[in-house]
Amino acid sequence: MDYLKETEKYIISKGVIPEEETRGLIVYSADLKNGDCCLPCFKLSKVMRISPVAIAEKLKASMTDLPPFVEKVESVNGYLNFYFDRAEVTKEVIGSALKRGENFDPYPQNGKTICIDYSSVNIAKPFHIGHLLTTVIGGSLYRIFKFLGYKTVGINHLGDWGTQFGKLLTAYFRWGEGEQTMDSLLELYVRFHKEAEKDPSLDDEARMWFKKIEQGDKKATEVFEKFKQITLAEVGKVYDRLGIVFDSYNGESFYNDKLSDVVDELKRKGLLCESEGAMVVKLDEFDMPPCLILKKDGASLYATRDLAAAIYRKKTYDFDKNLYVVAYQQNLHFKQLFKVLELMGYEWAKDCIHVPFGMVSLEGAGALSTRNGNVVKLADVIEASVQKTKAIIARKNQDSPEADFIAEAVGVGAVVFGALSGGRIKDMVFSLDKALNFDGETGPYLQYTHARCCSVLEKGKEGEAEFGDTDDETFALVRLINAFDDTVLSAAEKYEPSIISRYLIDLAQAFNKFYIDHRIISDDTKTTAARLAITRAVKNTLKNGMALILLKAPQKM
Ligand code: ARG
Repeated sequence: MDYLKETEKYIISKGVIPEEETRGLIVYSADLKNGDCCLPCFKLSKVMRISPVAIAEKLKASMTDLPPFVEKVESVNGYLNFYFDRAEVTKEVIGSALKRGENFDPYPQNGKTICIDYSSVNIAKPFHIGHLLTTVIGGSLYRIFKFLGYKTVGINHLGDWGTQFGKLLTAYFRWGEGEQTMDSLLELYVRFHKEAEKDPSLDDEARMWFKKIEQGDKKATEVFEKFKQITLAEVGKVYDRLGIVFDSYNGESFYNDKLSDVVDELKRKGLLCESEGAMVVKLDEFDMPPCLILKKDGASLYATRDLAAAIYRKKTYDFDKNLYVVAYQQNLHFKQLFKVLELMGYEWAKDCIHVPFGMVSLEGAGALSTRNGNVVKLADVIEASVQKTKAIIARKNQDSPEADFIAEAVGVGAVVFGALSGGRIKDMVFSLDKALNFDGETGPYLQYTHARCCSVLEKGKEGEAEFGDTDDETFALVRLINAFDDTVLSAAEKYEPSIISRYLIDLAQAFNKFYIDHRIISDDTKTTAARLAITRAVKNTLKNGMALILLKAPQKM
């Protein structure tokens, strides 16, 4: 139940203060001593032209028929403080949490579609730590919106077009026939650049091969397709470990046959002009550099393909929102893209949203860097995390049969949570050791708390719970359980999974406090039943919240 809304409704029903001005004023109290929620009357004072103290007093006097969840109301220095009936609220909150069961049902379908473009890897390029945030933020938003009743379309807008592929083919046909791997493809690419410095004719050869790809030449496309498959197989392994899925892998090359329509349309709408031989859409009026549509030689650009992609997505999915989870380095690109769509007259340009994030670097990255420069592969980070977890588990409890499964869940979870725990726009230095600290604000801490709940529930006998008056700590826990839906909604509204991460840490910490301060299982069957019911509600809430940020919740740890 949304107690703030209910309280607001109740206050408004008194007819003492203007409805408009009251909306959104009520907040949860920071300190339970001042009640559970309160209405500050200062803003109202301006409209009503009487003092806040007088307003609070007047309201209090009108409240002779409190709703069942409110025990008392107090007027203190211009605040109207509401004290909840804890037994009543606890019963309601825990009851409805338990009714949701172990796997919460998603919200009813709302008929809205949201496209989410994330991960969007480049063919034959290493899948590195820099891809971590787009992959997990996008993957988490995908689950969050699905849970909230949206139809979600996960799109991996593959970087599978560009002159660099002509270079790669050149290198391949010269030095690389036979089986290739991601590593060998990168080596070929690096070798091309080295050799081309000595022999500039290689660049002409690269142009020739790229032309062939463009023209659909059999030999060229066959090899290029193979490179694509090698890349997708490699990133696919990482996606599987992270629990990331996509509904479409339509990348840049998919739009080849749709580009001329876009260019024609831009011309027709009088938006295209020539600039130093290239074709651009001028955006000076909006304080932006021009958006490049065609190069001098008539070749299309990244932006051209994104225009075609946005139009295609609207036509194909009729999205309500179209998200791009892409690093903030591309802020300008997306501002230009959305502006051009707007200038083309697409009112849905306003539904296109860039969800930017900061840069990740790895603490002590040296050990994990590949031979070719400072690239740290995401697969290596995940594997290192799982191996470290294995070592920790082996130290803690010798030979659990599920040790491998647990190490995988915890090791992967540590990396994912590390990426999703801070506000997405901040640059971050990722530290494996910190991410694996079982006592810190980490994924393993959440998993550990969940497993602790499971073990308590296994030992205790659950029964019909009756809730008496609860102490502050227990009630704080109950309030957190009740905050689940608001938290998910706010994470969706801000495209910020870290809001859920923060919430889950708060919930886990509150539970551990409750666990340490209260004997959950005792001879008193009534109290035991009540505390076990709270424990189960915490367990289910943790598990479902964790799933929304891609964390697995093993029963044991
Ligand atoms: N492949 C691009 C890169 O690595 C990201 C693509 C993002 N999506 C898009 N529709 N532009 O920078």
